[in-house]
Amino acid sequence: MTSVYVFNGPNLNLLGTRKPEVYGTTTLSDVETMCREEAEALGLELVFGQSNHEGQLIDWIQEAGAAVKAGQAVGAVLNPGAYTHTSVALHDAIEGVELPVIELHISNVHHREPFRHHSYISPVARGIVVGFGVYGYVLAIRGLHNAARPA
Ligand code: DQA
Repeated sequence: MTSVYVFNGPNLNLLGTRKPEVYGTTTLSDVETMCREEAEALGLELVFGQSNHEGQLIDWIQEAGAAVKAGQAVGAVLNPGAYTHTSVALHDAIEGVELPVIELHISNVHHREPFRHHSYISPVARGIVVGFGVYGYVLAIRGLHNAARPA
């Protein structure tokens, strides 16, 4: 079965209690359930992960890139959290393995502090979903599935 990956970066394990006025009250476990239902409806198997560690995210990106190259996955939805604004290493990993990535942000980062306006991920992302709350994960999975379909 073809997989779709959903990777979450630092502090997203706190979803539901961290700044609910910005990120809402849905937990990451609820998000995983939403993603699993959407993936299954599209005939995909969901692989879902969260890590507070940059190196772990890089290892997952490399594994996902290999799976896409082997025809076993469509790509990854990635909410890099604050690493969005700091990580050349995540940029290089995505570019290095040519992983189709949908960059996702729950909040509209462009409506927030200026340091959130720059992304190291956007130049290597296949698409970007910003500001739709946790529903953005569903949109991103659909977008990735559609982008992977043969023309
Ligand atoms: C975020 C936005 C980032 O600026 C922030 O550091 C996060 C979450 C979002 O989903 O809106 O941790 O990626």
